[in-house]
Amino acid sequence: MIRLTGVTVRYGRRTVLDEADFHLPEGGVAYVTGRSGAGKSTLIKLITRETSAVGGEVRVAGRPLDEWKKHHLRRRIGILFQAYELLERKTVRENIALAAQVRGLYGADTERHMRRLLARVGLEGREREYPGELSGGEQQRVAVVRALMGQPKLVLADEPTGNLDGETAGEVMGLLHELQREEGLTMLIVSHDRELMARFPAACWEVADGKVRSG
Ligand SMILES: Nc1ncnc2c1ncn2[C@@H]1O[C@H](COP(=O)(O)OP(=O)(O)O)[C@@H](O)[C@H]1O
Ligand SMILES: [Mg+2]
Repeated sequence: MIRLTGVTVRYGRRTVLDEADFHLPEGGVAYVTGRSGAGKSTLIKLITRETSAVGGEVRVAGRPLDEWKKHHLRRRIGILFQAYELLERKTVRENIALAAQVRGLYGADTERHMRRLLARVGLEGREREYPGELSGGEQQRVAVVRALMGQPKLVLADEPTGNLDGETAGEVMGLLHELQREEGLTMLIVSHDRELMARFPAACWEVADGKVRSG
């Protein structure tokens, strides 16, 4: 699903990725770890075309990235962030509906899909609440629903449990792995939590010194 071959990314004079290789097969899960500033978010932004490489090749679903129209690519990808990034003045329903609308999804089917997903993540009947009324774990569950509304094949999660306490982090990580299996998703999860990664095993990669190494 994702393949980087000899990819180099520079910000000014700083080389963040230096002829890096990485791959994630369709239907697979990979953890990406590494120190702060190592280039983990850069790896995600490469895949979403928010950042571009100066060398090497990135392929998504077998196609070189520059052959993907940015909006076509983004439609196939669900994204999760550490800080949830919900709109504070919008309700749960509005947050999800707005993200769906951007993808051309609205109407009765979309509403049903939203309710089904909300129930699946344990937030049935919470549509009218505001993010500030929800716990961190609940906000991340809303973000999971928002990410899955477009039925993406690929989910990129940038430290999705980084703001959560240990128990809640475990619940959210467990939920992501369940959804991955149920929906046949390909999932990349940036995480630092060794304990969680051991509890929910998957391929492990580390970003360091410009390289992405497996193991
Ligand atoms: N848009 C940008 N412009 C300049 N430097 C950037 C930009 N984005 C990230 N960087 C730098 O690139 C390095 C890697 O960043 P990032 O991929 O966000 O690291 P990580 O997610 O592993 O903490 C850091 O030194 C960061 O400051
Ligand atoms: Mg980061």
